[in-house]
Parts: sequence; structure tokens; C-alpha cells
Amino acid sequence: MFEWTDGGFGDWRDTAYGDVTRDRFNCGVPQGTANINIFPFGGDMVASSEQGGPPIAVHPITLETKGIVPWSPKLSRGMHEPAAYGDAAFTAHPKWDHETGTLYGWSYRDFAPYVTMHIVHPDGSVDSRDLHDAPYNTVAHDVWLTPEWIVMPFQPFTLDRSRITEKRLNLWNWQEELPIVLALIPRDDVHGEIRWINTDLPPQYIMHTMSANVEGDKLMLDGPIFNRPPFPFEQDFAAGDDIALFFSIAKSHLGRWTIDLKTGAAKSEQLSDRPSELPKVDERFYGRGYTWGYQVGGVVKRNGMSMNSLVVTNMRTLSDQTYQIRTDQPAAILEATFAPRSPDSPEGDGYIIVPVSWWGDKRGEFQIFDTYDITKGPICRIDLPFFMGWTPHGHWMDFR
Ligand SMILES: [Fe+2]
Repeated sequence: MFEWTDGGFGDWRDTAYGDVTRDRFNCGVPQGTANINIFPFGGDMVASSEQGGPPIAVHPITLETKGIVPWSPKLSRGMHEPAAYGDAAFTAHPKWDHETGTLYGWSYRDFAPYVTMHIVHPDGSVDSRDLHDAPYNTVAHDVWLTPEWIVMPFQPFTLDRSRITEKRLNLWNWQEELPIVLALIPRDDVHGEIRWINTDLPPQYIMHTMSANVEGDKLMLDGPIFNRPPFPFEQDFAAGDDIALFFSIAKSHLGRWTIDLKTGAAKSEQLSDRPSELPKVDERFYGRGYTWGYQVGGVVKRNGMSMNSLVVTNMRTLSDQTYQIRTDQPAAILEATFAPRSPDSPEGDGYIIVPVSWWGDKRGEFQIFDTYDITKGPICRIDLPFFMGWTPHGHWMDFR
């Protein structure tokens, strides 16, 4: 249906994040596919594409597509000109408050205001705020939620559609000279005073946050820290080079940015020698502090990493457990999801569901681990007798 401005190169530049060419056949149709994440909200599963189009509600039992969420007209646009009433952008990595059902999201674009926060309430009302002081056009992929703030990082991974049209490159860039800046946005008063922290952190990239803890004046922001974004840039490739596999051009290790809330000083620590990514937590505790973090772990492979295991880390003590899922057979170990043992079980007490694509055998599997001891291996396997592709993100949805 669509032809993209960055879809006709025939090489690594074909990211399909640019504008689509509009014609009489796709006129009025939001561009893109809501295939980056699916998360529970208001009794539905909501699929999001981050930039490509508005969030789509899916019935959680029948998987019927219900359509664009009714609160979409209250969201702001991303990079692309809205194609229809209600066409908008919404992050693929919202956070939520388990008790109130409030959803903390945003949209971003390559022109000012670069980021707009959207707090979506269970009744479908939306509180929005443009970040007029945003320093630059960051790829705003994820945030941390604390008891007080939404912490939005501005990292030097930027996007700019003029790169596609003027330089014949893809829209992403890695501008190491830009500082990492954190916006601390009051989560219960989105129009309140934002605290901006200009850090002197080295050029690093956290694509996905794990979670955050606040202890006294210390704000600890956890997540796998990349040496650079795992996305292709002009310094890596020439015209005609093939598309790079994700995680093949950069690696990340579990790390922590600690912010001194008195002085604004920031420091970065690497917490593990093991390459890891796709961090998840017990989402009932989003924004409340946490102990348990789940990741997919792996080994260094050339400039990137090769994933093979499930890793559970106690983020207070930094002790961890691993289980190696892949040995010699080709497989993709995909993002895990935590499911609580019971609605009231303590944080991190339950099950971890890991999708595994045994793509060499054209089959898939869910491996389910008990958090009591993952080193014993999966307590249950669900065979999927068909080829399972890449599943970027997902969440457990509970029914009461
Ligand atoms: Fe993501």
C-alpha cells in the first residue's frame, strides 16, 4: 500500500521510517504497522508502532482488531503529517500505574517541540504537555517512571527526515558531541515544573530502560547501556551494503546512571560483563522502585552480541541467575515477560515467559520459568508448530 521516501534504496538505508508518498490509493490511511509493542490498557490490548500511526486496540481474548483507540484524537502527531482525523503517534514503551490504571506515554518528532508527553487516564481523557525546552531531536524510545517523575532521556541518537531527502541516507544519526540531558517531569502534575539535568555522561545509549530506584538524594536509572545505538549509520555502511541484523553492530551491558538530586551530578556504571538487552520487570511495580530485573543475555560476537540465555538479576545486590536456552542449534531468544504467581504475590514472584524461535526448524516455543529458581530450566514448554519470527516486545495481561 505504501511507498516510503526511505524505502527505495535497496540497501541498509531502507528503514521505512520516513514519509510515505501519498497517492489516491493510500489517501487518508495512517502509515505504518502497529507492530513494535502491545500492552494492556483499559481492558484492551493496545498495539503501537511508535511513529507510524495511532495505537490500535485489540480484543485480548478473540484478538479481533477493534480499531484505533478512542483517545487517539487527543494525542499529538509524530514525524508524519496526520493522514486522517485521529491519526497520531504514541510511544511503544509506555509505563503505567498498576493501581490507578494511568498510562504514561509520549510522542516525538524531528521538529520542535521534539517531545510531547501524554498521560492517558482509564476514562480515555488525556493530559498533554509539549516539552518546549527539549534540547534536540532525540529518538525518544523509552523512559523511567519513579514515584515522582517520568524521566525522559535525551540521548545523542537523533532523527531527521531531511537526511533522507538531502543526503540520501537513513534518518538516524549518532551525534556524540551532544550531551545526555534528562527531563524529570512531575508524573502527577504534567504541567508542573520540569527539572532539566544536563549531564556530563559519556556518549552512551540506553535503548530500553529496566526500572529506577530512588534512595535519599540518589536517583538510580537502570538499563542495558550500549556503546552506541544498534542501528545503522552512514559511518558504518556504504550505498549498496546489506541491511544489518539487529544487535550485530553494537553491544550492551547492564548498567546504571546514578544522579545526585542535590547537585545534578551524574555517573555511569557497568554492572555486568555479560552482554544483555530486552530488560523487563514485574510491571505491577512500575514507578514504585524494584528489586528484580529480567533480561536476555548473550556473548560478544564481533562488534555486536549473540543472545542465548535468560538472566534474572537482583538489582539491590547485583547477584544473578542465568539459564542458557540456546547451545548449538540456531535460535532467536526473544524478549521475556514476567507474570505474577498470583495477583498479590510479592514483586518478582511468579513466572517468566520466554519466546524462542527455533528458526532453523521452522518452529517456535514459549519456555516458562519459575522465578524461584530459573537455573532448573523451564517448568513448561508450549510448542508452536510454525515458524515464529522476531517478536520485539510484549506484556502479560491479567484478568480478575
Ligand atoms: Fe523497544
